[in-house]
Amino acid sequence: MKPVILDVDPGHDDAVALMMACGAPDLDILAVTTVAGNVPLEKTTRNALRILSLIGRTDVPVAAGAASPLERPLYTAESIHGESGLDGPEIPDPIFEPDERGAVDLIAGILRESSEPVTLIPVGPLTNIAMLLREHPELKNRIARISLMGGSVGLGNTTPAAEFNVYVDPEAAREVFDSGLPITMCGLNVTHQAGAGPAERDRLRSAGRFGGVVAELLEFFASTYQRVFGFDAPPLHDPVAVAAVLRPDLLTTRPMRVDVECDSELTCGETVCDFYGVTGRQPNTRVGVELDRDGFFELLYESLARL
Ligand code: BDR
Ligand code: CA
Repeated sequence: MKPVILDVDPGHDDAVALMMACGAPDLDILAVTTVAGNVPLEKTTRNALRILSLIGRTDVPVAAGAASPLERPLYTAESIHGESGLDGPEIPDPIFEPDERGAVDLIAGILRESSEPVTLIPVGPLTNIAMLLREHPELKNRIARISLMGGSVGLGNTTPAAEFNVYVDPEAAREVFDSGLPITMCGLNVTHQAGAGPAERDRLRSAGRFGGVVAELLEFFASTYQRVFGFDAPPLHDPVAVAAVLRPDLLTTRPMRVDVECDSELTCGETVCDFYGVTGRQPNTRVGVELDRDGFFELLYESLARL
């Protein structure tokens, strides 16, 4: 069992990522932490608790983290995820409370006590992870890898240059990419290869007890993608970062130096990926460049069916 901690801002694809991770037989989910992103922190925390309550995983500690980015006001994405952050299906109220410790303290305690290094899977803005590294540099060697959803080689979805998670807190992203830790980046260039079209949504509907909820989440997600981006196969961004941990063979990566632009008005939040190594600088990231789409969806169906 691989020990992991998910850091999330649910969010439709975050919810699917949580369910996928919980259904995977070989992940030991030590905690779920929440961050402000798609919607404010109170809602992302409630949504994480609702999803875990729904699928019967109230044993997983949930802790709330940062309510705003390190240096900027929060920018949210209700246009994509609705007012609640999980608009679409009826999801009951949570039946458990968040841990009293905040996200950073909870993660730090777990890292300290774990018998082996832990993999972090952050799929929202990187505020909590940057704060953890600032406050507990001594725990860096307790982190096996960071498999993150964020950034992009190329296209942006929030500005022409920037992907949402990095756009929301570019300073945090910069600190994480510069941390020297092993990082796998699942950016838009690969998550857009995981678009859930009508055929995939149909199949998901019968994937286990919660397939109906997943399908309804994705119907809503598809409708906002259609309205905002003009296509109706919403990418399962965050589940790709989970898949990269479960089955690294599904994601072809290339070592690159990744730097985060924090200043330019035009390109703030861009992950500048040195694809050809033209800077001669040491790569700091394994950047996902190709996803085995069929393998990814099979893994998703299998994991959800196990819930
Ligand atoms: C990322 O932004 C959020 O809206 C999604 O949950 C995903 O983590 C995609 O850019
Ligand atoms: Ca997310």
